[in-house]
Amino acid sequence: MSAAELFRTAYSREPDGLFSAPGRVNLIGEHTDYTGGLVMPFAIDARAHLAAAMNRDGVIRVVSAQRPDEVIAVALQTVHPGSSVAHGWAGYLVGAIWSLRCSGFDVRGVDVALDSQVPVGAGLSSSAAIECVTTLAASALSHIDISPMEIAKIAQRAENEFAGVPCGPMDQAASAASQEGSVLLLDTRTMTAENIPFDPGAHALAVLVFDTKVAHSLADGEYGRRRASCERAAAILGVKLLGELHIDDLAHALSELADPELRRRVRHVVTENDRVRRTARLLRMDAIDEIGDLLTASHYSLRDDYEVSSPELDQVVSTALEVGALGARMTGGGFGGSAIALVQADRIQATIDAVATAFVQRGFTAPVPRVVKPAQGARRDQ
Ligand code: GLA
Repeated sequence: MSAAELFRTAYSREPDGLFSAPGRVNLIGEHTDYTGGLVMPFAIDARAHLAAAMNRDGVIRVVSAQRPDEVIAVALQTVHPGSSVAHGWAGYLVGAIWSLRCSGFDVRGVDVALDSQVPVGAGLSSSAAIECVTTLAASALSHIDISPMEIAKIAQRAENEFAGVPCGPMDQAASAASQEGSVLLLDTRTMTAENIPFDPGAHALAVLVFDTKVAHSLADGEYGRRRASCERAAAILGVKLLGELHIDDLAHALSELADPELRRRVRHVVTENDRVRRTARLLRMDAIDEIGDLLTASHYSLRDDYEVSSPELDQVVSTALEVGALGARMTGGGFGGSAIALVQADRIQATIDAVATAFVQRGFTAPVPRVVKPAQGARRDQ
């Protein structure tokens, strides 16, 4: 059932607007967005669709196509982080409204129907898509004029403070501010972004994503521990954020750190920012076919220095490379979720088959492959 049909069924009236926001993959720039570093995600053509209308009841009502029989109604006055609604899927919608109100916007009440096509738990930012589409819908229908980057910040606050997940700004920025046919080069220190054209198809290339079906969770502590390590290292090195360090500062920075684990974490962050800069330079010259080694180097750095990969993610990368991928890497937070491979368009099926076979041989759950194209960020559809 579409979001609009679901809305009519659940609320017996017409929605005032239809909106959508996408999931994302990150091309490169991993675990840098909470260090003031650079990231380069793009929106994918899997979207969360929302039909919405404001109400005057002081209530948020939400229903989802994935659970069409259950309308959850929450009085705005009772909404706060830690309330029971924060922990289910509805928490992403309610959290976005809560966050809008925290930013001083006078949202009184809203009825929404959600149909999300972004796979959950795949590391493709299904929660960011829901938070961004809800923020866009409620602001647009309340005649609040805010920029895509402001939508991203409000959505990120919902994730951080309402859902309680300590993520950086990348996923929400990608969902809110991406443009079709581009990657989003985001400087997370200044929150400024540049859309750089990215059209693998024009080079007879494709980006393949493999969902390893290994559940990943940012709330389980490892993500927070990585963040804390970066903050500790920054304090020792006398910088506010590790993103301030340039690749030329690396040798000196490493010599200042006694703890080998902190040295590995810093080396990842600094070299990763450098890889994003180099990728951006190549993409600005339309040299997509030259970025593969940077993607693969990013993976090895995440595997060896940042220690956030998994056997399944490593397997996707090694198999994809064996059968000719230009580059491959885990994408997103790691410990499961998805990996991407940049492949020749005529090698898509061969890569899918080889990864499937390797997973069978290792006794892993079958991965789910999809080809992704850079899609438009959050938008009003009607
Ligand atoms: C998750 C977080 C992002 C980012 C990535 C790692 O996707 O939500 O903010 O930190 O991990 O790059």
